[in-house]
Amino acid sequence: MAGNSFGEIFRITTFGESHGTGIGVVIDGCPPGIMVTSDDFDHEMSRRRPGTGAFDTPRKEEDDVEILSGLFEGRSTGAPIALFIKNKDARAKSYDYMKDLFRPGHGDYTYYKKYGHYDYRGAGRYSARETAARVAAGVIAGKIISRADMVVTAYTIEIGGVGIKTKDLSVIMDNPLCCPDMQMYKEMQNALAAAKKNNDSLGGIIEVVAKGCPPGLGEPVFDKLSADLAKAVMSIGAVKGIEIGAGFNAARLKGSENNDPVIPGGFASNNAGGILAGISNGDDIILRAAVKPIPSIGMDQATIDKKGNPISVRAEGRFDVTAIPRVIPVIEAMVRITLADHYLRSVITEKYRELMDH
Ligand SMILES: Cc1cc2nc3c(=O)[nH]c(=O)nc-3n(C[C@H](O)[C@H](O)[C@H](O)COP(=O)(O)O)c2cc1C
Repeated sequence: MAGNSFGEIFRITTFGESHGTGIGVVIDGCPPGIMVTSDDFDHEMSRRRPGTGAFDTPRKEEDDVEILSGLFEGRSTGAPIALFIKNKDARAKSYDYMKDLFRPGHGDYTYYKKYGHYDYRGAGRYSARETAARVAAGVIAGKIISRADMVVTAYTIEIGGVGIKTKDLSVIMDNPLCCPDMQMYKEMQNALAAAKKNNDSLGGIIEVVAKGCPPGLGEPVFDKLSADLAKAVMSIGAVKGIEIGAGFNAARLKGSENNDPVIPGGFASNNAGGILAGISNGDDIILRAAVKPIPSIGMDQATIDKKGNPISVRAEGRFDVTAIPRVIPVIEAMVRITLADHYLRSVITEKYRELMDH
């Protein structure tokens, strides 16, 4: 069924299932001349891959990205770019237990009700494995926006209710949670260790900052930049909420407190999160995403089987304590994809205005 594409000019379509042959993405609308090699994907793919951190599932996937089309002599031609990632560690047998029941917190129940026939192995299409394709597309999007000096960074500001007290972005690559507060990182680790001991899981909050965004990204009225960012981020599994700038706290402020005074060269504050009326204002774009605790936990939970009989289920095999470290590169990718799309769209308006001025 439809719903596998995102973006207008820089448009991605992902395909594949967790335990099928592989997963991939077709990118339409990538401008010509972008230099891409298969090595470019390695770093981002390894950040998303499971089994790279202490609290990750031990599933080992190499996630090599194969470039099938759209490049010639190492540069994009403007033709669709197809990227493919083979599934190498597809131990479908360990999912036999979930064939006839609905795991709490997963899409089993809704996919069964909607489609009747679906690939349940490792959650099939609704598996987090699909996000590997988004990360691959995000690498290409990143190349486009970096040409326009935009830089996107995501980091953890809360895990299981333990929040940061200071913010030093220079340390986020020094710890697996990408936490900007090394002191509170240790507290977060303690919370994760306690949850792991109890066979439980934890969620958290990821903040994203996009620096260097020019004013003018975003289209009235349904394709506002804020609306598209919300869709991009909310389309990631386990993300349950998003806020931009002051977000939910804006509802508690007075107009006089929430308005960002306009000063020569910009704004005195950034409660808007870099977006006004759906259009970027040139300030940093700031958003936060609430990520739920991962649903697969090694403890008995009540559910029903496909015949409606009450039954107890407990996750078998591999499962993480938190999805946060793996969601971070996916959120960055989706924000880069959204910015690349809107950047290319804004170029049309700019070009038209130039033509009109002559
Ligand atoms: C990168 C990433 C990794 C994830 N890893 C796991 C995991 O190891 N175990 C799990 O149960 N859920 C994991 N999830 C979350 C589930 O995919 C998700 O909660 C489930 O499909 C239900 O969708 P919903 O939470 O959006 O309602 C992960 C999600 C993402 C984005």
